[in-house]
Amino acid sequence: MVVKMSSPSSRPSLASDAPIGIFDSGIGGLTVAHAMAQAMPAERMLYFGDTAHMPYGDRSPELVRTYSVRIAEFLAAEGCKAIVIACNSASATAKEAVEASVGPGIPVIDVVAPVVKYLSAKGAERVGVMGTRATVGSGIYGRSLREAHAGAGRTGCRVEEWPTPLLAPLIEEGWQSHAIMLPVIEGYLQSAGWVKGQDRLIDALVLGCTHYPLAADAFREVLGDAVEIVDGPSIVASAVAAALLDEGLTAPPSQAEGKGLAAHRFMVSDLTETFVRSAQRFFGKEVPLVPGGPWFQH
Ligand code: DGL
Repeated sequence: MVVKMSSPSSRPSLASDAPIGIFDSGIGGLTVAHAMAQAMPAERMLYFGDTAHMPYGDRSPELVRTYSVRIAEFLAAEGCKAIVIACNSASATAKEAVEASVGPGIPVIDVVAPVVKYLSAKGAERVGVMGTRATVGSGIYGRSLREAHAGAGRTGCRVEEWPTPLLAPLIEEGWQSHAIMLPVIEGYLQSAGWVKGQDRLIDALVLGCTHYPLAADAFREVLGDAVEIVDGPSIVASAVAAALLDEGLTAPPSQAEGKGLAAHRFMVSDLTETFVRSAQRFFGKEVPLVPGGPWFQH
């Protein structure tokens, strides 16, 4: 499929009161949107979940890139001042393509780089990453973290990635606190070799899929306090705030006054009752999802 690159020069100039565009393969990215809403109450968001094409985690990198570019161009054409790729699978495979398609001037923030930066700053040595097949197959976390450690002159760091494709569907089903989650998580941790009996062989666990933060309590129950469960959404929200500040694009504080959910727009490419119900769990409150986006026929 050929993706038409839109011309950056045909876009209206960016204003600090413009919305932030944020997208995911579905509604998992709402965990990031929620953290952004908490951290930046004055910002408005245009969220797009590509529910018609999910899961991205089982797609080829080429197809994830094609979808991601098309969505980013849609968000840019809607006047978004920044693009947040709130999907690990798309961050791992499509960041450069998204940047190239929207052109310079629109900051693009993905969900991998801020977490790598955080772990590198902490000097985390034994890191486990769980994610979809697309994310783990790309090796993005291991490669980036090893590079960051090497750049800081640190040696001996161990980063291992493990695909955990059963988790997103279970969470999507609303089973993040269901008793079945514990043996599934434990089974994956044991298969990865990060848990042996009472031993914990990692210091930090990256939840490398935007669905997983919903199951953070189940991970904590299995791993105990000795392993840090990395809080991706809030780390990413801070990175978005920093990028906006750098570019002089932070929303005026007055925009926070009297602002409710209606200040944001939440779109999905396929709207079903299930997505409406799950979206409420992912965002922590009811989300006014509407059908829309680049594939939507008016
Ligand atoms: N939200 C996606 C991610 O972070 C996972 C769901 C999917 O496979 O589409 O990778």
